[in-house]
This record gives sequence, structure tokens and C-alpha cells, in this order.
Amino acid sequence: MILLAIESSCDETSAAVMVNGELMSNVISTQLIHTQWGGVVPELASREHQKAIIPVVEEALHKANISKNQLNAIAFTRGPGLLGALLVGTSFAKSLALSLNIPLIEVNHMQAHVLAHFIEEPKPKFPFICLTVSGGHTQLVWVKSALEMEIIGETLDDAVGEAFDKTAKLIGLPYPGGPLIDKLAKEGNPLKFAFPMGEIQGLNYSFSGIKTSILYFLQRETKNNPNFIEENKADICASVQHTLIEILLKKAKRAMREMNCKQIAIAGGVSANSGLRNRLQEMGSKEDWDVFIPAFSYCTDNAGMIAMAGHFKGLAKEYCGQDVSPMPRMEI
Ligand code: KG4
Ligand code: ZN
Repeated sequence: MILLAIESSCDETSAAVMVNGELMSNVISTQLIHTQWGGVVPELASREHQKAIIPVVEEALHKANISKNQLNAIAFTRGPGLLGALLVGTSFAKSLALSLNIPLIEVNHMQAHVLAHFIEEPKPKFPFICLTVSGGHTQLVWVKSALEMEIIGETLDDAVGEAFDKTAKLIGLPYPGGPLIDKLAKEGNPLKFAFPMGEIQGLNYSFSGIKTSILYFLQRETKNNPNFIEENKADICASVQHTLIEILLKKAKRAMREMNCKQIAIAGGVSANSGLRNRLQEMGSKEDWDVFIPAFSYCTDNAGMIAMAGHFKGLAKEYCGQDVSPMPRMEI
């Protein structure tokens, strides 16, 4: 099966080619236009996708040394994501599939983040737990098979990626601030400032409370010392990151116990965070878990993971029709 995959759910336009489950190319064009606005502007994202989609697809085909006439199917992100952004990828995929007379495969972006673990070795065995952490989602997923997943815990308000990005904004870092917090945190003391962890029942999360407490903390401290943020930037980043990681891993540990599971994976943009990767490895050795951490290139949004999900669906002959439309709030 020679598959072209397209991702356009947020601010990355990406295309990938996969041949019989092997990823041959994975081209990602990141939209830089949003930095000046401090967050993703949906209308601008759609326009950038329109500009990038053809060159990105052409480059992916070229790198894989595949011509479009060799393709057997086209996979695309149907949701969740921004409606206008999803429309670009969906319409492109539908048109190309129609013109080549080949089947279409709709992919759930959050399932694809989990399935990114099957692009390269080592691959987890089913069932396992995946902590999926991105700019829009924070989920504990019980992964029964490639196509059968169940959310056993999730955030009731903000995603953890938002908590990273909003904290970054408060201390004057540009969007997206998650990677910059990660970088600065390496120089800081994670125990310098304490923030409340909050207590949410069961396996669910909440990150809106911590965001507010960081805001009040910074307002209070800068009232006493206007240079507080500048003088303590690395320690603030390290302390906030430490708190967010502890919140994430406390529930992950509980989920592992409740499901009597010994394999854990992380996925999504925030799984690129070095603190989270290290702490999870540490916890895994202590608890005797097999820990699966994706390569950096498959953490943030990319079409390689859409291709992987498309491959599994293609094997199951799960195709969709030309009447398919984007689903901004698509559930796993
Ligand atoms: O999965 P993703 O690329 O897009 C969504 O589907 O949301 O995730 C983007 C999120 C952003 O919030 C970004 O700040 C965060 O992932 N992120 C990080 C790191 N790299 C990306 N957060 C913390 N540390 C990082 N190294
Ligand atoms: Zn994502």
C-alpha cells in the first residue's frame, strides 16, 4: 500500500508518504506568522495552509521518489482541530483522491499522536496506556488496539500545552512558549517556587487553577520587585514545569495501577519536553514499566503519524466517502 498523508489541523502543514507501513518522507512546514500575534490566528492559519499544501505534498512525493499515479490511498486529518485549517487538508485530499480514483482514509489527529509510536522501533504491545499531551488536549488513553482506544482520564478545562504557553506569555516569552520554558528550565531550580497541584477526582486533570495561581504569584512578586521576572526567569520556568510534570505523572501512575498495566507511552507536542521525558523514564525504572518516548520529529504535529494511522485503517479497509467533512471536535 502506497499512502499519501496530509495534516493541516493547526499551524503545521505536513505531508508524508508511507509504503507498506514504512515512512518514506515526512515534510513539515511550520507557520511562523502567528508568533507576532502571540497565538494561532485561525483565519491566518487557513490561508497559510492554502499557500503551503501543494509545495509540501510535492516535496513529500519527491523525497519518497513516488509519483502521484503510484498512490493507492490518501489519508488526511479529519479532526479535531481548527475548522478552516482542517478544510484545506480535507478538500485537498478529497480532490486528489477523486482525480486519481483512489480511496480516502479519514484520520483522528489524537489517535494518530498515539500511533506515532508504531513508526519506529521500539513499539509498544497492545494494550498499553498513552499520556497524550498537546496544545489542545491532555488525555490518558487506554490503547486496546490500533483502532480501538478509550479515554480513561482527561482535562476538564485547559490542556497542559496551554498551561506552558500561557505561563510563557506571562513572563514575556514568544508563542509557542512550551519549548522556551523547557530550555530555560534547564538552568533553573525546580523547587525554588511552589505552586498548588490542585486535586481533581479520578483520572481527570485541571490546569486552569495553576494558570491563575501563577498569574497572581507574578503580580504579587512584581509589585515588590519590578525586575522579579527578569531576575528569576529560569527558576520560574523550572518550578512551573516541575509542577506541571508532577500533576501529569501522578495521574498517569494511578492509571497504570488501576489498569494493571506495565507499558506507558507519551505522545503529542508536550511529549517533546525534556523534563517530562526524564521524569517518566525515572518513574518507569522505579515502577518497572516499559516506557515509550517518541522521537522529537514525531512529537509535534506531522503527517508521518497520520500516515501510520492511515496505514492501520487501510489494512482494515476503513475508507470514507467523498461526502466526508472536517470535524473540529472529533472524539477518539
Ligand atoms: O501536538 P502539538 O504540536 O499541536 C497540537 O495538536 O496542539 O502540540 C503543541 C503544544 C504547544 O502547546 C507547545 O508549546 C507544546 O506542544 N510543546 C512543548 C514543547 N514542545 C512543544 N511544551 C513543553 N516543552 C516542550 N519542549
Ligand atoms: Zn497535535
